Amino acid sequence: MIIAANWKMNPPLAEAGALAAAYAGATFNGVTRVLFPPAPYLVQMAMRLDGSGILLGGQDCHQAVSGAHTGDVSAAMLASCGAGMVLIGHSERREAHGESDGLVAAKAGTALAEGLSVMICVGETLDQREAGDAEAVVTAQLDGSVPDGISADRLMLAYEPVWAIGTGKVAGVEEISDMHGAIRSWLAGRGLRGVPVLYGGSVKPDNADAIFAVADVDGALVGGASLKAADFDAICAAGTRAAAARG
Ligand code: PGA
Repeated sequence: MIIAANWKMNPPLAEAGALAAAYAGATFNGVTRVLFPPAPYLVQMAMRLDGSGILLGGQDCHQAVSGAHTGDVSAAMLASCGAGMVLIGHSERREAHGESDGLVAAKAGTALAEGLSVMICVGETLDQREAGDAEAVVTAQLDGSVPDGISADRLMLAYEPVWAIGTGKVAGVEEISDMHGAIRSWLAGRGLRGVPVLYGGSVKPDNADAIFAVADVDGALVGGASLKAADFDAICAAGTRAAAARG
């Protein structure tokens, strides 16, 4: 099980240090934890997490290797600050920054070339789900966002229904199961085996066990609940239970 904390544009640095120290003070069998902190915090978080086994990632990177891109961060910069991976194509970036599938694929290609692994996010809006298009939308996002020729051991996917992110509305177990099954088939069609597929969208301590009981769910991408160490730890404990149950 892989459980990733996406802090987004939170919290203040003083709190971030304490939160990372709290993460680092706990261990969870059968669970790999990942932290995606704000980019300016990476170096300090790398020091806080040293020896904890928690992996570090950037929340985004630019598609260019370097150059005149004011305000942007390159994949190489993330790597040099201690990140081993980068989150790409989160719906908040697709929506608020107009990121297309093509741009997501370009960013992923650059990140891979710089030695990072990538976690690529996909997910439908409520309108798309209600129109019965959820699976077609997600499949098209995968077609456009996952670079050709990527090796399975450098890729993770996160299925995050847009309507479930930060809303407290979690997708039903059947919806998650159907979509993760569809994503797994898409991966098989590309010859990509063993790629972890995480669920994201209002994962909390009280729903994590049910979500992790879904066969094709390999973990979670956690936003809001990752900002409280007790909640994140409780979700990781659910991950340990799920890992044990799968044997
Ligand atoms: P949430 O965010 O857990 O706050 O819904 C998940 C995400 O956006 O990655």
